[in-house]
Amino acid sequence: MSQTPLINRTLLLIAAVVALPITAALLGGFSTADEVPPLPQAGAETPEAVMARLKPVGEYVLAAVDPDAAGGAVDGSKVYNGLCAGCHAVGAGGAPKAGDKGAWGPRIAKGKDTLYSHAINGYQGSNGVMPARGGNPKLTDDEVKAAVDHLVKLAG
Ligand code: HEC
Repeated sequence: MSQTPLINRTLLLIAAVVALPITAALLGGFSTADEVPPLPQAGAETPEAVMARLKPVGEYVLAAVDPDAAGGAVDGSKVYNGLCAGCHAVGAGGAPKAGDKGAWGPRIAKGKDTLYSHAINGYQGSNGVMPARGGNPKLTDDEVKAAVDHLVKLAG
């Protein structure tokens, strides 16, 4: 019996703690109700209107994911200049220099699929380490392949 008041007080405290944020949220909701723009009337939001409103977001996402949506094929020289050149323009770490036919000839002879796979997955050769995707895991397979094509072209 002597514990009952304690339990009651505890329950009251819990109730207060739980109720406070809810009350605050409700009050906040009511007090700002005037500033919130009115909801569109039923039927006012046509599917076209909704699509138009969401379009910029959708387009941005598509452009980031689908290279074709950004207008055409991936530009291998851009990928190369932005990353691969860091090693391949100067031969850093044993990287075969871009445009060096002697260094690239035997590699190209292995076939493009091998070069693609080594560039995408990484490759430890006798010269050094070719990091997977040149060290940028965000590059897509197509971007890496386009950069390989660019390197092969420079050596051709
Ligand atoms: C950190 C330096 C570094 C970066 C950045 C780098 N590479 Fe390399 N890459 C190397 C090295 C070192 C080798 C040579 C490995 C060996 O044969 O010992 C190599 C080899 C290669 C090869 C030949 C693989 C083979 O089978 O002979 C290709 C193709 C290649 N890189 C493509 C790329 C592409 C495309 C990029 C950019 C996306 C890139 N590399 C970025 C260091 C780098």
